[in-house]
Amino acid sequence: MLLTTLLLSAIFSSLIDYNKCAVLSSTSIHGNNEVLPEFTSNNINEPNRVEDKIDYSRNVEDIKVTTSAILTKPASRAYNCFLKNNFNCNIFKSKNSTGAIIGSADFKEKEPKDGQIASTGNPFYRVLDEHRAGRWNSTHLQIKKYNSTHFVTEVTWMFNKKTLTVKNVKVFLSNSNYTDDQPIQRSLLNLVCSYSNNHMSVENYVLRLNCYIRNKFIKDLFYGARASGILLSTVKIAKTDYAFYQVADISLLGSIKQIVTYHGYVFYPLSRAKLCQLRVNKNCGLIIYEPQSVEGFKGFPYSKFSPPDGKIASGNKAEFMELDEYGVDRWTRVKFPEVNCHNRTHLSFNLTWYLTATHRTDNIEVFINNQNYSPAEPLSRHHLDLNPICTIKFHGEFPRSQQTMSCPISLEKYRQLGKLKYLLMLSVWNIYDTSNAFYQVIDLQGLSAEQTYENMLRKCL
Ligand SMILES: *[C@@H]1O[C@H](CO)[C@@H](O)[C@H](O)[C@H]1NC(C)=O
Ligand SMILES: *[C@@H]1O[C@H](CO)[C@@H](O)[C@H](O)[C@H]1NC(C)=O
Ligand SMILES: *[C@@H]1O[C@H](CO)[C@@H](O)[C@H](O)[C@H]1NC(C)=O
Ligand SMILES: *[C@@H]1O[C@H](CO)[C@@H](O)[C@H](O)[C@H]1NC(C)=O
Ligand SMILES: *[C@@H]1O[C@H](CO)[C@@H](O)[C@H](O)[C@H]1NC(C)=O
Ligand SMILES: *[C@@H]1O[C@H](CO)[C@@H](O)[C@H](O)[C@H]1NC(C)=O
Repeated sequence: MLLTTLLLSAIFSSLIDYNKCAVLSSTSIHGNNEVLPEFTSNNINEPNRVEDKIDYSRNVEDIKVTTSAILTKPASRAYNCFLKNNFNCNIFKSKNSTGAIIGSADFKEKEPKDGQIASTGNPFYRVLDEHRAGRWNSTHLQIKKYNSTHFVTEVTWMFNKKTLTVKNVKVFLSNSNYTDDQPIQRSLLNLVCSYSNNHMSVENYVLRLNCYIRNKFIKDLFYGARASGILLSTVKIAKTDYAFYQVADISLLGSIKQIVTYHGYVFYPLSRAKLCQLRVNKNCGLIIYEPQSVEGFKGFPYSKFSPPDGKIASGNKAEFMELDEYGVDRWTRVKFPEVNCHNRTHLSFNLTWYLTATHRTDNIEVFINNQNYSPAEPLSRHHLDLNPICTIKFHGEFPRSQQTMSCPISLEKYRQLGKLKYLLMLSVWNIYDTSNAFYQVIDLQGLSAEQTYENMLRKCL
């Protein structure tokens, strides 16, 4: 027994780093608008009152329960079948009730099997285990930053009984390996919060919980996932030996906007990554969801940890490797920023970072290409002047959320740039209290007719 426990905890060690949920309320509902009419009425499958014990050696079709429970927030797959947001899954007809999807009270045990987690292996609900891209309507996961270590999301269960006592609630989220075309498996799920109490009473059908989720689980949910994920919640009612299972298909597109991270991107002139998010650059991969996250090691260009040649634009981050692609027509080129007179020897231009949240900062640097630059080659150090054209130092202070820097450029350098058809800048935001930096590449056209060296000389001298 002990050995089994040890084995299980080894296998599921990734599952035990969770946080407790807090019970928000078990509010009353007035009117039936929020309560499924059929769900609370006698239509619910309430057959032979075989009380509250599952014998897995028996045919699961024989399992009868008197209580039913569904997850309404985020709307579960089964609930969406009921609402007809999901098609060809009319599990409400006849004796197939939506709310009686039950499995072992401890998800670590063998039931339900991998691939049958949505149905808990019950043939009535087997349709819920289908998995192909786009099969299930998804619900936005509403998620907010709670404090520096946690996010929070609200989870709502509804029951067909007005009052009952819940023993525990658990919430699992898929990790970055989940895609909606594969069966749901334990190895794709992290336990992110859990609430346990012997006397947690539900009043008026509803149980709402705040689930506090560690940042790393949110990262795991978002990074790599193709903007879709799974939330699994289980509820164990007191004095029963099984739990209700509900799987919700969640879309992460809207959620990413709600996630505030210590990240940023260059929006003047528009960076490669930002143009991906704006869908001006195509076939960009995951960066479209988070142009602010091109995070790599700091110390460019000399530190051996900083992004190597060919991987500078992605910050050497595998998720964003598309950014490292090259070719004369690969990236949309924006105009060289507006140029002003600075003094007798220099002109200047502005560059602006947008920081989705500020962070203690070393400095922000801007590098500009040299005459070796060719868009047909992987971006390398030999394409760039390795002395930044400008640097703004913060000494650990916080930049503004829109941080503009004025970059002086010598007339001589400007004259050289004027001869080139393609230009490129790299800006690096070096963080003060971590070993990381954010990398942004800006693909530029050659100087415009008004911006020629001769014109600027006339204007400024
Ligand atoms: C989900 O269902 C709603 C309501 O039927 C519909 O408006 C929406 O387009 C569907 N979304 C997807 C992704 O199928
Ligand atoms: C109810 O479940 C049975 C499996 O026992 C299945 O054959 C039937 O199609 C289901 N009914 C509906 C309407 O989904
Ligand atoms: C953030 O909130 C969670 C949930 O209440 C708590 O466990 C954690 O300790 C908090 N973190 C900090 C840094 O306060
Ligand atoms: C994803 O799958 C790969 C290969 O099986 C594995 O190495 C990696 O640890 C998995 N990632 C997560 C977050 O589980
Ligand atoms: C012009 O400005 C640049 C950058 O601020 C500075 O390095 C240079 O010495 C200035 N030149 C003159 C002539 O003042
Ligand atoms: C740079 O920004 C400053 C302050 O926002 C502005 O006054 C200045 O005109 C800008 N310079 C250029 C070249 O656009």
